[in-house]
Amino acid sequence: MKVTVHRKAHFNAAHRLYRKEWDDTQNENIFGKCSNPNFHGHNYELTVSVTGEIDKKTGFVVDMKILKDLIYDEIETAFDHKNLNVEVDEFKDLNPTAENIAVVIYNKLKPKLEEKLELEVTLYETPRNFVTYKGE
Ligand code: NI
Repeated sequence: MKVTVHRKAHFNAAHRLYRKEWDDTQNENIFGKCSNPNFHGHNYELTVSVTGEIDKKTGFVVDMKILKDLIYDEIETAFDHKNLNVEVDEFKDLNPTAENIAVVIYNKLKPKLEEKLELEVTLYETPRNFVTYKGE
């Protein structure tokens, strides 16, 4: 029997989507407002979902306090109020799209969880646009 627990978190961050080798017009055609050369911010809403067996002794799939602290230390501290392109190493050469941010979050959290636990990351860039990644 497997149960999934979910923890929500939030961060504000700035980004710019662009390719260096494209001019501003081509970047705007592909990335729209997200290619603004002066950057812009989003209010990212994150849901971290962990699936596994219920531990017989604790009754937990994962200790929510540990999960909360892990998300805070690894994600919120690293991303909140940052310019993702400029200040976060993972995006130095990686476009900080919602898709890529979700993969980076997954890759930061997965090694910190017990191997047997499954992880899924859901990231809202806007209330209507969101992505999910579960390591496949
Ligand atoms: Ni954007």
